[in-house]
Amino acid sequence: MANFPKGFLWGGATAANQVEGGWNEDGRGPALTDVTLGGTVKENRKLTYIAADGTHGSLERSEPLPKGAHYAVLDECYYPNHLGVDEYHRFKEDIALFAEMGFKTYRMSISWSRLYPKGDEKEPNKAGVEHYRQVFQELKKYHIEPLVTIWHFDTPLYLEEHYGGWTNRQLIDFYVRFATTCFTEYKGLVHYWLTFNEINNTIMFLDFKGEAHPDSEYQTAYQMLHYEFVASAKAVQIGHAIDPSNMIGCMICGITNYPATCDPKDVLACQHTWEKNLYYCGDVQALGEYGSYSERLWKEHNVQLDITDEDLVDLANGTVDMYTFSYYMSSLVTTHEVKDKVSGNFSAGAKNPYLEYSDWGWAVDADGLQYFLEMVYQRYNLPMMVVENGLGAYDKVEEDGSIHDPFRIEYYRRHIAAMDRAIGNGVDCIGYTTWGCIDLVSAGTGELRKRYGFIYVDIDDEGKGTLDRSRKDSFYWYKKVIASNGEDLAD
Ligand code: BG6
Repeated sequence: MANFPKGFLWGGATAANQVEGGWNEDGRGPALTDVTLGGTVKENRKLTYIAADGTHGSLERSEPLPKGAHYAVLDECYYPNHLGVDEYHRFKEDIALFAEMGFKTYRMSISWSRLYPKGDEKEPNKAGVEHYRQVFQELKKYHIEPLVTIWHFDTPLYLEEHYGGWTNRQLIDFYVRFATTCFTEYKGLVHYWLTFNEINNTIMFLDFKGEAHPDSEYQTAYQMLHYEFVASAKAVQIGHAIDPSNMIGCMICGITNYPATCDPKDVLACQHTWEKNLYYCGDVQALGEYGSYSERLWKEHNVQLDITDEDLVDLANGTVDMYTFSYYMSSLVTTHEVKDKVSGNFSAGAKNPYLEYSDWGWAVDADGLQYFLEMVYQRYNLPMMVVENGLGAYDKVEEDGSIHDPFRIEYYRRHIAAMDRAIGNGVDCIGYTTWGCIDLVSAGTGELRKRYGFIYVDIDDEGKGTLDRSRKDSFYWYKKVIASNGEDLAD
C-alpha cells in the first residue's frame, strides 16, 4: 500500500517566463529574461545591450553593464523566452491536457511585469490582471487548485536598470504592492502561494563551482537575500490578512549534500554547506529568525548587513505555512582535492560513483529526495511539498508521432517511490508537482531540446516548429499514477 494521503496534490509546475511567451503583449513590460539569449550546457546564456556609442554587445549575467550602456532586445538576435511555448495564447488547451492527466494542482507563476510593466507603478496593468483571472477560472473549471509562485526569476527590467534590482531596499515595497495585488485580485481563486522561487540560489550559486569571489559579491548576495526575506515575510502577513485560509510557502532549491568521505573534516564541511545553502533561508522563512551560524557566515566574508529592528519583527511575524522545495540532484562536499569532476552546471564538483548523471550532468538520486524530506521535516515540522522534480532529456518523435520516454517514467517512478517512503517515515508531504509538465524553455541554458514535459511541444531552439502539443508515453503513465493516488507505478 502506498502512503500518499487522501487529497494529495498531484500535478505539474511551470514558470511564466519559461512557458508564456507574449512577452510584449497587452502592456507587459520586459524582464531580464527578455534580453537573455539561448545557451548550452557549455556556453552560458548572455544578456544583450546597446552601448553608449550605439554598438551592440552581450555579456554574462555576473558582468556589469559597460558605462552608459543599457539592456536591449536586438533585432539580429533570437530570445527563446519571447515565445516560450506560447502558453499565453494556448493556456486553455494546456489546462485541458493537465485535466486529462487528472492534475489536482498546477504550479505556475505570475509574471511581475505583466501586472506592473515597470515595477514601480502605483496601479496594475488591467489586461495582465485579467489574463491570470481567466487562467485561474479555467483551472477552476477542472477543479485544479492553482499553486502560484509570486516571483520566479523575473524582476521587471526597469527595476533592475533603474533601481539596481534587489540590491535596493525599495524593491521590498514594489514587491509587496505586486503581491498585495495578487492576493486581492485572486482571493477565492487561489489558496496556495509561494513567495520566491529558489530564494537560496542567490547565495548558493556563488560557491557552487568552487571559484573564488571577492567579499563584495557576498556582501551583495546576502544583502539582496535579506531584502527578499523581508519582502516575503511582509507578503505572508498580508496574504494571511486578506484571506486567512491562504497557505503560503517558501520555495528552496533543495540539493541534498553528502560528505564525499568519512573524514570528519568532510562531514563538518557538509554540515556547514547545509547551513549556508539550505538552512540559512529555511530558518529565516520557517522559523522567523536568522540561524545561530549566520554570524559566522557573514564574518567569513566581512559582510555587514542593513537590517532594521522593524525588519526583524517582520521576519518573526511572517513565517510560512509550508516548506516547499525543488529537488533534482544531490552533491558531494569535500575538503580534499577532487579528481573525478562532474561537468554539469548544478552538480559541479566531485562525482558520486554510486550515481548516474543526466545528459546535462545532473546527478540522478531518488534516495536523496527521501533524505531531504526527512532531514528538513525534522527541522521545521511543517507540511512539505515537492514543487519541482524532473529530468531534462532529449526526446525523439517517431514517424507515427508517438514519443517513447521510458527514461522519464523510470526517473519519476524512483522519485515518487522515495517520496512515498519518506511519507511512510512520518513526513507530512502534501503535494508533488513535476517540473515542466509541458516542455518549456530551460532556465539554465535557454534550450528547448532539454525537454521535461509529459506533453511534447513542437518547437526547437531557434523557435521553429508548429507549437502543436502531443502526449508522450509518460503522459499516460502519470495519469495512471494520479488515478491510483501513487499506488500504481508500473509501466
Ligand atoms: C529550477 C528552476 O532551478 O530548475 C526552474 O526553478 C528551472 O525555473 C528548473 O527551469 C530546471 O532547470 P533548467 O536549467 O534545466 O531549466
